This record gives sequence, C-alpha cells and structure tokens, in this order.
Amino acid sequence: MAEARALAEDVFGGSFESVSHYVDILASRGVDWGLLGPREGDRLWERHILNSVALTSMIPTGSTVVDVGSGAGLPGVPLAILRPDLTVVLLEPLLRRANFLSLAVEELHLGDRVRVVRARAEDHAGGYDVVTCRAVAPLDRLVEWCTGLVRPGGDLLALKGSSAEDEVVAARSALRRRGLSAAVRTVRAHSAAEPTYVIRVR
Ligand SMILES: C[S@@+](CC[C@H](N)C(=O)[O-])C[C@H]1O[C@@H](n2cnc3c(N)ncnc32)[C@H](O)[C@@H]1O
Repeated sequence: MAEARALAEDVFGGSFESVSHYVDILASRGVDWGLLGPREGDRLWERHILNSVALTSMIPTGSTVVDVGSGAGLPGVPLAILRPDLTVVLLEPLLRRANFLSLAVEELHLGDRVRVVRARAEDHAGGYDVVTCRAVAPLDRLVEWCTGLVRPGGDLLALKGSSAEDEVVAARSALRRRGLSAAVRTVRAHSAAEPTYVIRVR
C-alpha cells in the first residue's frame, strides 16, 4: 500500500492532497455506508485510485465525460481530480450511492465541473465526448446501454480485467449490429504500477 501511495503521489503531483482526502472519505464513509468492503481499506490506492486513472491518456483534453455506474465515484472522481480540464457527470441510479457522491463532490470542492445525476445509463440523454465505466456490466450490455450516450466520433472506455479480449469476442454481434469496433489496450497509471485493460469502443 505504501508503494502504491508513493506512485499516486508521483501521478497526482499538486492534486495529491485532494485525492488523499477522497481516499479518506472512501475508507471511512465509503466503508460505513457499505459502498466498499471493509477489507478494501488497505487496497484503495492500488486497486481503486491507480486503476481508475490508468485510462487518462485515452481521454482528449477538455472532454465531457460521463462515468456510468459510478458507485463510490470510480473512476470518475480520481479522473476529475487528476484532470482539471474535464467536465464530469457521475451517473448512478442508486439513491444511497448518489447521496454519497454528492457529499464527496461537495467536500472535495469539485462542484464547478463535476455533477451527480441519479439515473440509469439507458434513461440518460447523450452527447458526451467520452463514456467511462468500471465493473458495471459485460461489454455487450454496456454497448446496448451506453452507445446512445456518446456523441458521434466519441469513445466508450470500459476498464476491465484480464478477460477484456474474451468480452470483445462475446460482444461481436452487438458491436456489428451498431457498426462499432472495439479494441483492447493495456495501460498503466505509472510505469511502476500494475497494468490494467481498457476496451475502447468507437
Ligand atoms: C459494482 S458497482 C461499480 C462501481 C464503480 N464503478 C467501481 O468501479 O467501484 C456497479 C455500479 O453500477 C450501477 N449500475 C447498475 N446498473 C446500471 C445502469 N443500468 N446504469 C447505470 N449504472 C448502473 C450500480 O448501481 C453500481 O453502483
């Protein structure tokens, strides 16, 4: 954990204090409210913070981003902290989670460019440059829910585990029906961090 925290210090630079504050919120209220398991407390930096920002290089400067199924704010909140150029909507249908997100956004002073919307992806209006999501649904379902959220020429970026290639194969007909293509990229938040996988659909 100490090592992942040190890597995060490198990655976040001047925004490290803000992301540390978010980690404190996750480790306290996030666990108390049942949004994270009690054992996640020790793994926040590596499993959640570094993992979330690993896709930053795939998001163009100044993008509007919707983080679908944001839960406790992952990856949307760490991305918003790291990237002051982004405007971010945290989309989350469950009341308890949406309330948690609203409090966190307020405490982290992100309210000028981060908004919480309580809705399901299928019911939300689109036009975003980028859709992000992590641990929400298999790719074929994400494609169904999320392609209406992306503006023409924008990207759906799904953070996945090592089964990413298999998900692309399983989603082949859903992608073909919509004239979309998907590719897996291996990314890291820091050269010394664990790799993670992102499926880019466009
Ligand atoms: C396993 S949690 C992952 C949360 C967070 N992205 C993370 O990585 O920790 C999945 C989240 O997706 C949300 N969700 C489920 N169905 C959804 C839908 N149709 N549209 C938007 N969010 C949805 C759930 O409410 C839940 O908060």
